[in-house]
Amino acid sequence: MQRLLVTGGCGYLGRELVRRAPARGWSVRATWFRRPPSGDAEWVRADLRDPEEASRAVDGVDAVVHTAYRQGEGEWGANVDGTRAVATAAAGRRFVHLSTDLVFDGTRGRYREDDLPAPVGSYGRSKLEAERLVGELQPAATIVRTSLIYGGAEPGPQERLAQEGTRFFVDEIRSPVQVTDLADALLELLRIDAPGPLHLGGADDVSRFDFAVLLGADRAAIEGARTTPERAPDVSLDSSRAAELLQTRLRGAYEVLGSGSNGAPRATSSR
Ligand SMILES: NC(=O)c1ccc[n+]([C@@H]2O[C@H](COP(=O)([O-])OP(=O)(O)OC[C@H]3O[C@@H](n4cnc5c(N)ncnc54)[C@H](OP(=O)(O)O)[C@@H]3O)[C@@H](O)[C@H]2O)c1
Repeated sequence: MQRLLVTGGCGYLGRELVRRAPARGWSVRATWFRRPPSGDAEWVRADLRDPEEASRAVDGVDAVVHTAYRQGEGEWGANVDGTRAVATAAAGRRFVHLSTDLVFDGTRGRYREDDLPAPVGSYGRSKLEAERLVGELQPAATIVRTSLIYGGAEPGPQERLAQEGTRFFVDEIRSPVQVTDLADALLELLRIDAPGPLHLGGADDVSRFDFAVLLGADRAAIEGARTTPERAPDVSLDSSRAAELLQTRLRGAYEVLGSGSNGAPRATSSR
């Protein structure tokens, strides 16, 4: 049986990969760092910024899905140093790296893989630098850019925000993707040769406001707000290349969550 390493195995996406990979024929090893692990896997504690710990985590596996990251404090270390250490240690193995829609400046939307990244924030800059390192160290790797991840077995950051938030941007557009769709697509990708960037966003482009409503926020109780200049307004992803490559469908938020029983208008759909 082939062995897969999931970095960030206790994270929102990592947990789903750990759950779903055995059914796809993988024996799973996963890293944890601060949050204690749960779920069936061979767990390895590693601070992936440390090249020796990254090397120990990767030792003996055939493939790696690198989800570990941070946004906010410590993001450059986790995203750049961590990716450098993991990508270096994983030389010669199938490597799928997770990146973000926030490598784009959001002035246009419907971004394709060959569009020029130009991040407006420090998180996007750290992820773009990580992409550059992966391209250099692992030319055959797939660099997956994805969008807001939601819909896991346990409520995640998007679900919590919809419950707790009071103001949501009406003009910030994303392509949210359901976590099991994304995990299945990544596991399918492991068996496919697809070097370079690949966009894996959900099929519907949705404002942060409408997304919150789809996730259960009370439309009447929340407020719409205009986005600010330091944020990327429309980083929706064109994922048509993935649709051609993969059998896994990346469903849109309207399909997954319903068409907005409390009156959410439908956003434009890419396919
Ligand atoms: N979530 C989204 O909406 C979204 C949107 C676009 C792109 N993405 C991309 O998707 C990927 C996965 O996101 P996610 O939401 O599943 O992340 P998450 O839930 O925040 O999990 C990230 C994991 O990385 C681990 N980690 C952080 N620094 C580490 C280090 N130095 N060494 C080892 N592990 C470390 C964390 O461990 P501890 O918690 O134990 O510290 C955590 O388990 C990321 O690469 C992200 O850029 C996510």
